[in-house]
Amino acid sequence: MALRKILSDNHPVLRTRAQEVKNINSAVSRLIDDMIETMREAEGVGLAANQVGVPKRILVASDCQEDGEVYALINPRCEEKEGEEIGVEGCLSVPGQYGQVPRCQKVTVSALNRKGEKVRLKLEGLPARILLHEMDHLDGILITDKAIRMLDPEELKSEEEST
Ligand code: CO
Repeated sequence: MALRKILSDNHPVLRTRAQEVKNINSAVSRLIDDMIETMREAEGVGLAANQVGVPKRILVASDCQEDGEVYALINPRCEEKEGEEIGVEGCLSVPGQYGQVPRCQKVTVSALNRKGEKVRLKLEGLPARILLHEMDHLDGILITDKAIRMLDPEELKSEEEST
């Protein structure tokens, strides 16, 4: 496994719509391992492949459970959305900035896991927010596009989590 560099500052790859993965091979598996390691090192709770310069539809995210499980999804697709709530988000590719972002409260997503098996996730609250944030990355969308308001420096002090 190896750490990868996290892109920031509106790097063009962050603004590129990532491509579907057609073949889950050893390069994809290695990329997922590297993304998990890179996310943990950066103390983030999610990471999309284009954040490390690979425009493919792959993300890793924390399930927000106490044991700190991280899951990987390939070609994720949103099947159902429900409700809406506003929450504060940061982003490893938008360092030092946090914004109030409206997201669906509940989401059902289908995807492939790293073995190429179909999986279906139903999430709500923070894990849903993290997953939707990472799926936005795969479409080239950043929190600065979606935030109804970015926080000012005073408000920033209390925020820690970055995705
Ligand atoms: Co992010």
